[in-house]
Amino acid sequence: MIILGIETSCDETSASVVENGRTVLSHVLASSAHMHAKTGGIIPEMAAREQVKAIIPVIREAIENSKEAKLGLPSGLKIENLDAIGVTVGPGLIGSLLVGVETAKTLAWIWNKPIVPVNHLLGHIYANFIREIPNDKFQMTNEILFPALALVVSGGHTDLVLMRDHGKVEWIGGTRDDAAGEAFDKTARLLGLPYPGGPAISAAAEKFQITSASRRTQLNLFPRPMINEDNFDWSFSGLKTAVAREVQKRNISPNDIPRLAAEVQEAIVDVLTQKVIRAAKKFKPKSLLLGGGVAANGRLREKMRLAIGHLSLDIKLSIASPQFCTDNASMIAAAAYYNYKQVSWKKVTAIPGLTILGET
Ligand code: KG4
Ligand code: ZN
Repeated sequence: MIILGIETSCDETSASVVENGRTVLSHVLASSAHMHAKTGGIIPEMAAREQVKAIIPVIREAIENSKEAKLGLPSGLKIENLDAIGVTVGPGLIGSLLVGVETAKTLAWIWNKPIVPVNHLLGHIYANFIREIPNDKFQMTNEILFPALALVVSGGHTDLVLMRDHGKVEWIGGTRDDAAGEAFDKTARLLGLPYPGGPAISAAAEKFQITSASRRTQLNLFPRPMINEDNFDWSFSGLKTAVAREVQKRNISPNDIPRLAAEVQEAIVDVLTQKVIRAAKKFKPKSLLLGGGVAANGRLREKMRLAIGHLSLDIKLSIASPQFCTDNASMIAAAAYYNYKQVSWKKVTAIPGLTILGET
């Protein structure tokens, strides 16, 4: 089954063609993040305006690029070879979601194709099901088995769920306030680093980690809220207060930034890892899946691998390829395949407040 995926929930405009939820035949992404870097955060109207301009060229390129893939179709991919359109319906920014949803509905009507509405947060989990990726050195090797414990860590959400099968999702825990990505973005801003804050903090922390002094430094300057509480919840809003206080207390110079960035990163990664490992011990899943923009973080990937390796449980860890951790349409097409349920285009609407469990 060949699905065209469309993703426009935040500042990306992305379209992909994916076969059987595993093989990416084309993957196109246009981002307006560089425009938001100037303002230090997303301006929703600006993001949506850019998406209106980008959506048709991005979809066209995704379909035309598929011709290059080994499809076994003598004259490349034609519209008639597409079996369905999977589109993100929420959660996200209303203006941005509408661009993808209304385009998908129009194309579904013109091309006479079914639409599969996709929950963006589940899409982040399904990034782990993608197996064959052209031009990506990254290889997904671990097979995914149920029950699976899945952590979604993105700019707006931090959710831990237990999946007993496709479509059978139980919520285990999540953030009580800021999301993990939001904590990276807000603390980066306090440190004078650009938006998006996650990659900026990670790059600055990298500079610290390669100095010999850092090897002797315990990174424990910032608090780890709720780390010892017997639940699977997080709280990240205190971190920005702690960073703001540190910045005010001492006149920080550019030389202090790598160390402070490493401290912030360690505080976030520490609590995420410890709570997930506690949940893994309790629920004993066969697989542990990580998805969402923050799952691209090198330190989180490393620490989670080490922690799972130290457990005496047979849990297969799967962390999506970094290019599929941040928002993209391939994960949406994969989620549409594994949760295939076609809906008439007339019934598809954007739902900005959708949760990982659906509409509540
Ligand atoms: O999943 P995503 O692309 O969009 C949302 O659905 O929100 O996640 C974006 C978030 C941003 O907060 C960004 O700072 C964070 O993911 N992020 C990272 C990294 N790359 C992106 N955080 C930490 N380390 C990274 N390498
Ligand atoms: Zn996302």
